[in-house]
Amino acid sequence: MENFEFYSPTCFVFGKETENRAGEYVKRFGGTKVLIHYGGGSVVRSGLLDRVKASLDRESIPYVELGGVKPNPRSGLVYEGIELCRKEKVDFVLAVGGGSTIDSSKAIAAGVVYDGDFWDFYQGKRIEKALSVGTILTIAAAGSEGSPDTVITKEEGMFKRGASGDAIRPKFSILNPALTQTLPAYQTAAGITDIMAHLYERYLTNSEEVEVTDRLIEALLLTMVHEGPRVIADPDNYDARANIMWAGMVAHNNTCGVGRSQDWLSHTIEHELSALYDCAHGAGLAVTMPAVFTYEMSHNVMRFAQVAVRVWGCQMDFAHPEVTAKAGIEAFRNFLISIGMPKNFEELGAKEEDIPKLVNVLCRGDGRDGTISGFITLNEDDCTKIYKMMV
Ligand code: NZQ
Ligand code: ZN
Repeated sequence: MENFEFYSPTCFVFGKETENRAGEYVKRFGGTKVLIHYGGGSVVRSGLLDRVKASLDRESIPYVELGGVKPNPRSGLVYEGIELCRKEKVDFVLAVGGGSTIDSSKAIAAGVVYDGDFWDFYQGKRIEKALSVGTILTIAAAGSEGSPDTVITKEEGMFKRGASGDAIRPKFSILNPALTQTLPAYQTAAGITDIMAHLYERYLTNSEEVEVTDRLIEALLLTMVHEGPRVIADPDNYDARANIMWAGMVAHNNTCGVGRSQDWLSHTIEHELSALYDCAHGAGLAVTMPAVFTYEMSHNVMRFAQVAVRVWGCQMDFAHPEVTAKAGIEAFRNFLISIGMPKNFEELGAKEEDIPKLVNVLCRGDGRDGTISGFITLNEDDCTKIYKMMV
């Protein structure tokens, strides 16, 4: 196991009707003027936004509102939010929604207290200072409610890039699984896929002797294998949604990633798909992961064989471990298809003729040097082959 520092100061408030305590938590963490940030309207339709406003009113905390965050959130609204916060002297950003709304909120929070262009953070500058952020989560997926990360798409060039820093870890996150019951089945499944991706991206490591995090990841993957089909069959199942929601947080606040190198090639390759086609990030991952894993497999066959046996119940073929490894990837792919995820470019809405463009933005866009690295290092030729495997 490698040396690590783990800092995860977020206060998690979990369970039914907890959104009614939002005002109380904003006050506890020092907010005196709030920006309520939200998406395309699901929180308006469900009545959640009104409940959150009422809870701020009860604590006499003033607020301004900015809706309109799109899935795969854009830089334009971030600039607007930064200006609004400065003008209104906001000191707390409250995200009400999914990963996109939370990521846009984090970007605004970092941008308000920064003199330069907030996009600097998405080109490698670490976020050291930000306004306080709180979240009320409405979809179990991205894990942004507990992570130090934010992913934004820059409209000029459609670059989808990430930024990080402990300063943007939410001060509190309110997790009420019942709020996710209004999700369309496709979004629920995309969320499950993203959570499993966050687990796999950590499982694929070059570090040795990482038994505790290996076992935590396997437990969470098994939970998703159990709860995923239950929630797709019965969307109102509170207990299945509760287990998925907490798994989504634990999968990505790095509890499972400490002391080990991580992969993230599937995410890096997928981000270009959701940037270009505006598909759900989880759906893009469902198509991307089997191809990337198959391409990476020979680098460490035993790691893929281990997850195949421990999570997917495959029989270990000691003479031919690559057979076991492949069976595990196939079982994962079939699971994703069974919960309603796309299996190829066509079902995702992607086009084969765009592959050169995808590879160019992926490997050369925004200052990259022609390669991307994770479990292994990939050049433009490798990435072309991987995208072709998805067709
Ligand atoms: O915008 P509204 O109207 O709210 O609708 C949303 C949106 O259309 C809808 N939705 C959310 N909760 C709902 C609901 N509809 C009905 N009932 C509810 N309770 O679902 C759609 C998707 O929402 P979005 O916020 O985009 O989903 P998700 O949480 O999957 O976030 C995806 C974004 O997170 C990034 C992704 O790249 C993508 O941009 N990621 C962020 C990470 C991080 N910050 O740590 C890590 C992840 O790997 C990921 O990359
Ligand atoms: Zn993800």
